[in-house]
Amino acid sequence: MDFNLSEEHKMIRDAARDFAQTELLSGVIERDETQHFPKELVKKMGDLGFLGVMVDPKYGGSGMDAISYVLIMEELSKIDASASVIVSVNNSLVCYGLEAFGTEEQKQKYLTKLATGEFVGAFCLSEPEAGSDATSQKTTAIDKGDHYLINGTKNWITNGGRADVYLVIAQTDKDKGSHGINAFIIEKGMDGFHVGPKENKLGIRGSDTHTLQFNDVKVPKENRIGDDGSGFRFAMKTLSGGRIGIAAQALGIASGAYELALKYSKERKAFGTEICNHQAIAFKLADMYTEIEAARHLVMKAAWDKDQGNNYDVSSAMAKLYASKVAMEHTVEAVQIHGGNGFVKDYHVERLMRDAKITQIYEGTSEIQKIVISRSLIKQ
Ligand code: CAA
Repeated sequence: MDFNLSEEHKMIRDAARDFAQTELLSGVIERDETQHFPKELVKKMGDLGFLGVMVDPKYGGSGMDAISYVLIMEELSKIDASASVIVSVNNSLVCYGLEAFGTEEQKQKYLTKLATGEFVGAFCLSEPEAGSDATSQKTTAIDKGDHYLINGTKNWITNGGRADVYLVIAQTDKDKGSHGINAFIIEKGMDGFHVGPKENKLGIRGSDTHTLQFNDVKVPKENRIGDDGSGFRFAMKTLSGGRIGIAAQALGIASGAYELALKYSKERKAFGTEICNHQAIAFKLADMYTEIEAARHLVMKAAWDKDQGNNYDVSSAMAKLYASKVAMEHTVEAVQIHGGNGFVKDYHVERLMRDAKITQIYEGTSEIQKIVISRSLIKQ
């Protein structure tokens, strides 16, 4: 067992850290306030290979491993979780989904552009009545011979208004339940596809979240991903990898808040000394660091499982469950350590606290992660 990062991994982490400091930091408060999607920064992240981290170079990707992906996600998320969710969805839901389950034609047509950042992708599973209960898809995909006709509504879609390519999950045969579900590639601009208004959110406000409407959208048969009826398993498998990305995002939010709190506690004085010298603050820092390290080990283990070809359904669920809890609890502590300044936007920790909440909700709530983990334990 070796807990050290390789020299290559350190270089990748440092490159992401450098990008976050030089490109993401300035303007992050304004993007949060104005809900500005960082289009220009997405292009730069594409140029650096951050949008197709694990994709084979023959499809335009960076050909890196999941450990590298996690390191990049953590560094970006320390500074700007809105930018990092764009990276996470594009990499682990859209690029991975196409690379693992798509046809060669689909990969040539879409993956090559998504992996370089020329296109941005969105993953459309959630519906008004199918969030956690993902098998209850109301969006229908009726088989019309050479095409499918898609009708329905998707909710809370990340990159919803900005994506070029949408992976859409829909019910083809209701009687078959989860085995009657399919996944489709839908392009922006297809007739009958409408993007609804942008959501006004608590956190990750620089990312772009919309409701999508599909009214008789004609999708060619070659745009179905995988065999007929494989869409639910496609979604579940893809989400297992997505949960590694979100776990790394939560880790980054937590460690970003911790680093700010540590620095502040060494500068701010009260009762004649820096506040880190008061046990009330020092013990908070000790708890934060310990639990962030524990989260890091779970996140790295899940990424390692993926790299080794092991099943990572449970390790990714545990990583997301724990890292998101740590992110939520310790961003609150970081605000507390900052006192009145913690409540002020200039100090960044209030934004990290707001951003942390979504990591307990999207790509499967904490309660869903407990279902995934406990079912696996009971089955053993
Ligand atoms: N890999 C392969 N197959 C899987 C699987 C996996 N990880 N998980 C389930 N399946 C299979 C099951 O084996 C089963 O197949 P059989 O019928 O052949 O046995 C089938 O899929 C149905 O599975 P379940 O019976 O377990 O289904 P369920 O209705 O009980 O639901 C669930 C299981 C885990 C609760 C699932 O519904 C779930 O994960 N819900 C949460 C959905 C979610 O994460 N949504 C996030 C939206 S995407 C997002 O947030 C992106 C973004 O924009 C940031």
